[in-house]
Amino acid sequence: MKEKLHIIPHHHQVDREIREKKNGHRSCVIWFTGLSGSGKSTLANALEVKLIEKGFHTYLLDGDNIRTGLNKDLDFSAVSRQENIRRIGEVCKLMDDAGLITLAAFVSPYRREREWVRNLLGDEHYMEVFVDCPVEECEKRDVKGLYKKARAGEISNFTGISAPFEEPENADVKVQTHLQTIDEGVQAIINELNTKLKSN
Ligand code: ADX
Repeated sequence: MKEKLHIIPHHHQVDREIREKKNGHRSCVIWFTGLSGSGKSTLANALEVKLIEKGFHTYLLDGDNIRTGLNKDLDFSAVSRQENIRRIGEVCKLMDDAGLITLAAFVSPYRREREWVRNLLGDEHYMEVFVDCPVEECEKRDVKGLYKKARAGEISNFTGISAPFEEPENADVKVQTHLQTIDEGVQAIINELNTKLKSN
């Protein structure tokens, strides 16, 4: 039987509220979900530039980057993707506690996992952005050449081709990158973020 662990979390004197006050803004996680090639990283990157210009304290977490470090032991099976999102969710919680605006850009194809992150952070600290782009368009762009490999059977479990993507039903913002410009998308997210930070 697994041994019981005796862990008693410590309550620190400097908490999120103090850090938020020092930063001059509330903290929040902006979670981008969408197919590979839909424009999550491009949007998140452009948004972070704008937020920094406006004086926000930010951090950007991105699928391909996290998968070369913290999560390099994980593949793309459903179980590994769940663990991928679980760890990232926990990292987001720490970043949020640090008082930052965290931008998290991950395919995160399963509704259940995204809901898990929303519950972990709490509604007030989680904002979901659905980066909506038809798979045909993502495949046409094929910036990384992965769709071609997936079609050729060189990559298994490829989201949109041989693995599912469960579209969000109640995203806070939907950006259609095949119809809107990056600037329009960024502005829509900033508008929603402003509302969210004020209502907290
Ligand atoms: S997630 O599904 O677990 O959330 P994550 O965002 O971390 O995915 O990583 C997705 C990135 O890994 C894609 O942008 C793509 O570049 C690359 N990738 C490699 N293999 C796959 C695959 N089978 N399915 C989706 N993306 C893949």
